[in-house]
Amino acid sequence: MTVAIEWDKLGFNYMDLPYRFRAYWRDGEWYKEGLETDKNITIAEGSTVLHYGQSVFEGLKAFRSQEDEILIFRPNENAKRMVASAERLLMPAYPEEKFVEAVKEVVKANADYVPPYGSGASLYIRPYMIGVGDNIGVAPAKEYIFSIFVMPVGPYYKSGMAPGAFVTTDYDRAAPKGTGASKVGGNYGGSLIPGEQAKTDGYSAEIYLDPKTHTKIEEVGSANFFAIEKESHKFITPKSSSILPSITKYSLLYLAERKLGLAVEEGDVYIDDLDHYAEAGACGTAAVISPVGSITHHGDKHVFYSETEVGPVTQRLYDEFTGIQTGDRPAPEGWIVKV
Ligand code: PLP
Ligand code: COI
Repeated sequence: MTVAIEWDKLGFNYMDLPYRFRAYWRDGEWYKEGLETDKNITIAEGSTVLHYGQSVFEGLKAFRSQEDEILIFRPNENAKRMVASAERLLMPAYPEEKFVEAVKEVVKANADYVPPYGSGASLYIRPYMIGVGDNIGVAPAKEYIFSIFVMPVGPYYKSGMAPGAFVTTDYDRAAPKGTGASKVGGNYGGSLIPGEQAKTDGYSAEIYLDPKTHTKIEEVGSANFFAIEKESHKFITPKSSSILPSITKYSLLYLAERKLGLAVEEGDVYIDDLDHYAEAGACGTAAVISPVGSITHHGDKHVFYSETEVGPVTQRLYDEFTGIQTGDRPAPEGWIVKV
């Protein structure tokens, strides 16, 4: 390790690392694919990303194992989701195999910045694609840039692995048949007001209810949601066509059932039924598993397991999940890609 970084003090902040991967698309083909050193890109003023939101992105992480290997968590899943998001905005696909190779290449080039084993930090990997070129009417661009940049990060929410206080918002993140299930830039622009409002009011983040009835939990601004039922200990996570299909959530559904022996369900979590649940959490690449200590809804605060201690099922899920990411525990087939 040659770089001087206080790994345990990292938050979730941008850092300009030496290399990023870029590829350019025109006339049906990707060209000029490789590493670049300049964090800045120059794009035309008519770029569709600037006017019509033709922008998709991804988020995944790399970890250093005890044996000093670099492990990437489920990059193929991010590749597939990015293709699906791109399809939703009439953008070209960056093919899955090329995506995984590009992730490996950029991680390897910045390997000095992959945090050490045991630091609790990881390398966050941000792929994105934007529509560029000379355009003015509302139509898909004829040129695109795909890029991946990386940086070491610590916890996403200020509460980290300590339980956080969350709050519902009356704003909708997505429409029932809108773009909620795609990882597109516009979804996040719309979440800025409710997100800032929640933080100003002292909460970790905002929770969205389903846009049709406003009775069921949908997801958190930057993460999916799960809860653990009282007595049965069933792991339940909202099922909705307008939430992002979280790779962490699907990983936890698998681990809860196969490793923890719990019943699992993708179903409805009604905001008026929170006392059915013993524990709750937010889950995502950046959020990892962030325990939800409480949810405040229209001024009423509901406390789950504890506002200060992590619930036992959430802790077991966290240990299993992060153990796989850092190579301490055996991973299901295909979950870990070595650099
Ligand atoms: N929901 C939203 C809105 C997100 O931005 C994210 C982050 O990627 C997630 C859920 C979690 O998805 P994943 O576990 O694939 O990172
Ligand atoms: C992620 O978890 O990768 C995200 O994209 C969440 C947020 C930083 C937008």
